[in-house]
Amino acid sequence: MDIRPRRLRAHPAIRRLNAEVHIDPATLILPVFVTERSEAQPIESMPGVWQHPIEDLEQIVAEAQSSGIGGLMIFAVPAHRDATGSQAVDPEGILHRATRRARELAADNLLISTDLCLDEFTDHGHCGVLDEAGNVDNDASVERYRQMALASARAGSQMLGVSGMMDGQVAAIRDELETHGFVDVAILAYSAKYASSFYGPFRDAVDSTLTGDRRSYQLNPANRREGLREAQLDIDEGADVVMVKPAMSYLDVLRDVAQFSEVPVWAYQVSGEYSMIEAAAASGWIDRRSAVLEALTSIYRAGAQVVLSYWAIEAATWIQEENR
Ligand code: PBG
Repeated sequence: MDIRPRRLRAHPAIRRLNAEVHIDPATLILPVFVTERSEAQPIESMPGVWQHPIEDLEQIVAEAQSSGIGGLMIFAVPAHRDATGSQAVDPEGILHRATRRARELAADNLLISTDLCLDEFTDHGHCGVLDEAGNVDNDASVERYRQMALASARAGSQMLGVSGMMDGQVAAIRDELETHGFVDVAILAYSAKYASSFYGPFRDAVDSTLTGDRRSYQLNPANRREGLREAQLDIDEGADVVMVKPAMSYLDVLRDVAQFSEVPVWAYQVSGEYSMIEAAAASGWIDRRSAVLEALTSIYRAGAQVVLSYWAIEAATWIQEENR
């Protein structure tokens, strides 16, 4: 008997039925950058992505809801930065004002989550506070994260994207939230967060002031085992969800974490992944829509349950179109 696997690829209807992975718009989350300036600012290295004034949230939330995506992840670009990132803990800081507004606008089926890290708020651009020698001080940074977690929870954030890569941060934030009665505020731990060149355009997106790098806290791209260890530690510390980041160059890590994790596993398709496809498409070297959908599909295939993507709304719209 001939074995003919091509039978399942012979025409569109059977190809569709034979797909092992379908992208569900409800599992996409859109990262949003909010600025204190009054006008939206284009982000040069991420064509199509903008820093938005708070007023734009109305339209963004409306589009998010009609596209059927699952939520927003808010990042703030404060006008004032200092050594300890005071705008991160000030209830009137831009992040918390944006969170309050987004929660007012969003109906119950749109998750409003917020980044929990100091890098947008410090004048040196690091994810934590520095010791006298200029190194990132783990425990002092975690203290600051506790305060930021509380400010974010009070503003109405429903999920904290803990992205600073300090040891013990998840346990400390969980403790702080419980102590203050925020038992339902979830923790999304950026567990396996690699020190990646693919965050390059993001630094542009938040007007990062960083000189140097984050290799003393983010993971070495060479290390798979260490990524799994970080994910396990975060699960043990009480993370509700663990994440692998970036996505596309770390699909092996994502796969492995998805296999052992007892909590949901999400992935972040980062700025560089966005910009590479946009640039190649703009040059006519790649088909934009199919490249975006293929990249997203590969992340789900590797085991992500939810993906943070700058294409979230557009991809959701394409999927709705295809399903009609
Ligand atoms: C930290 C944070 C970063 C990203 C998400 N959260 C920047 C970094 O670690 O340098 C990168 C996201 C992206 O590149 O799209 N606040």
